[in-house]
Amino acid sequence: MLARGLLAAVALACAQAQAQAQSQPATVDLDTPFVTTPDAVVSAMLDLARVAPGERLVDLGSGDGRIVIEAARRGALAHGVEIDPRLVERSREAAQRAGLSARATFATQDLFETGFAQADVVTMYLLPDVNARLAPRLYATLAPGARIVSHDYGLGDWPPDADLEVDAPGKTVGMTKRSRLMLWTVPARVAGRWRGQAGEEPLALDLAQAWQHVSGTLRWRGGDYRFADRRVVGTALALDLRAEGRPPLELRLRASGDADLEGEAREGGAAPRSVSLRRMQ
Ligand SMILES: C[S@@+](CC[C@H](N)C(=O)[O-])C[C@H]1O[C@@H](n2cnc3c(N)ncnc32)[C@H](O)[C@@H]1O
Repeated sequence: MLARGLLAAVALACAQAQAQAQSQPATVDLDTPFVTTPDAVVSAMLDLARVAPGERLVDLGSGDGRIVIEAARRGALAHGVEIDPRLVERSREAAQRAGLSARATFATQDLFETGFAQADVVTMYLLPDVNARLAPRLYATLAPGARIVSHDYGLGDWPPDADLEVDAPGKTVGMTKRSRLMLWTVPARVAGRWRGQAGEEPLALDLAQAWQHVSGTLRWRGGDYRFADRRVVGTALALDLRAEGRPPLELRLRASGDADLEGEAREGGAAPRSVSLRRMQ
């Protein structure tokens, strides 16, 4: 997989050199060359992101606009950010021909200077180093639950939540007619010290977080629980915990804003108790 990824990256980089030599005006400084995502892969990307009507999608480096236009066809409010004005022009014309100009919009912009915090879905087909530079900003600015789908390349050291291969008929780079698609669901940022109650009793939860993975400790009713490698999915954190001499403890928590975790705790077969935690400064 890694070797294939490297070959594909080399192919994209060669396409970049070629494009710059042949047709790019000197003023357009591309971080990734213009190579299209085959239509079948565009569909697979939007399926993977589960783009729903009314959702806001941003394609970073939108090329000829095909991802944006297909997302608009599915009812999304889709926006492409593209540095090459000729591609933006071409995209707008294609959106107009498809009768989708109201929902498929484009801006001539550097993706590194573009805000995308409001997006429900971000799509990208960019070189690995560009993705790695974007990853911390995607993580920090997108709302928990937003999805990111990338064609062929990962987001630096942010592990994907799903990673699959699809047929890519008509693919113009790489050795095979296959594409790799990866999905991330932006996790709530829950690292910190949380204090509050489960039922009538005080509960203390300390969390460390790396991307969507959390580890930590929990103290409740005299039990001391330690855990590692648990996952935040959007705003949801499910912890199934064991401690010596204690019945199993299940916590189902949901982040609400930056400062609150709410949910339920169930110890053994007992009735669930409601949990309310606040983040300590
Ligand atoms: C590999 S193409 C992907 C096109 C389209 N998203 C698709 O999947 O078919 C990458 C696109 O990013 C654009 N691009 C490169 N650097 C950019 C930058 N700094 N800001 C915005 N767009 C950029 C290129 O012009 C190119 O159209």
